[in-house]
Amino acid sequence: MLATKNLSPQQLSLYTATILSVPITLGYYLMHPIWWVALLVLIIIFIGSFLLIQFTLERFIYRKIKLIYKFIYQTKASKREETYYKYLLPQKSIDEVREDVEKWAAQQKEEIEVLKTNEAYRKEFLQNLAHEFKTPIFAVQGYVDTLLDGALENPAVSKKFLENAARNIARMVTLVSDLDEITKLESGEQPLHKENFIIQDLIKEAYDSLSIKASDKNIKGSIKKGCEQPVSVFADKEKIRQVIINIVSNSIKYGKENGHIVASIYKTDGKHVLVEISDDGIGISEEHLPRIFERFYRTDAGRSRDVGGTGLGLAICKHIIEAHGQTLHARSKPDIGTTIGFTLEAAK
Ligand SMILES: Nc1ncnc2c1ncn2[C@@H]1O[C@H](COP(=O)(O)OP(=O)(O)OP(=O)(O)O)[C@@H](O)[C@H]1O
Ligand SMILES: [Mg+2]
Repeated sequence: MLATKNLSPQQLSLYTATILSVPITLGYYLMHPIWWVALLVLIIIFIGSFLLIQFTLERFIYRKIKLIYKFIYQTKASKREETYYKYLLPQKSIDEVREDVEKWAAQQKEEIEVLKTNEAYRKEFLQNLAHEFKTPIFAVQGYVDTLLDGALENPAVSKKFLENAARNIARMVTLVSDLDEITKLESGEQPLHKENFIIQDLIKEAYDSLSIKASDKNIKGSIKKGCEQPVSVFADKEKIRQVIINIVSNSIKYGKENGHIVASIYKTDGKHVLVEISDDGIGISEEHLPRIFERFYRTDAGRSRDVGGTGLGLAICKHIIEAHGQTLHARSKPDIGTTIGFTLEAAK
């Protein structure tokens, strides 16, 4: 029968006017069976009720709805919108209006959720930041105060204190530059300068630049047997260098004496290259593993050892790899070792 669900105000007025005028006219015709008078009655009642109903709907319902619309869109109506409110909106059925309002409400809810998570994120970030700066700042303050209180007189002590203060300042400098890096990466401010290069060469350069640290623990870095064949990738070389250096320096920091770091390179599907860097160090337990890419996240080992990390290294790696549209993953077993892998685009 009548599709009563999605009626526009005109249709609604039309139907109601019909429902009103037809029975009345029929009643009238039964009493006074003069067809042209009945027709006149029909026309008058139909037009009269149609206009009245439409006016009432327009005046008391649709104007209010238009107000709500204006409020929802929160804009000063442009010419186009004015036309929309004036001519198009009245065609909309109440159901369509309800759908629009529900859509608007869902959108608002989503926006609020995003704002809430951003707020929580910001709070946590500031907390972490304050925490990370506290230790070196207090240490520097302690050394400087002691020096001023008289330790300056003793050259041996004063040199040691100054060295300690300098170490803590260096730590703050690293922290600031890491933070700078991560915020730039997050805001997407840093464009990628992609080029073709051989990934094995970059890995060897990273091993070389970290060789002093590695030799302290007698850790050896190598490329896995069978993976020596040069593989060319298309990526931002300097950024990937940073990724490899961060991963390898973790393998050294959390590696055991006389340990090994092995890099393997695989061409996966002709379009991608998988790079994995494995060590035989202390490993990461299952509970920590999913979180190591979060900024400031450190496992107990990372926290308790005097290795001076801030937990930003892998977060930076993740940003860089994701900026390349690639992925990063970790596998690890306590006391066996850790493998951090990432994909890259193969050279064109
Ligand atoms: N190869 C690894 N072996 C064992 N644990 C690791 C290894 N790599 C990372 N981790 C753990 O993951 C945590 C996060 O690593 P990440 O590189 O982000 O921070 P960090 O090395 O502590 O500090 P930063 O890199 O900022 O100097 C580390 O604190 C450490 O606990
Ligand atoms: Mg690190």
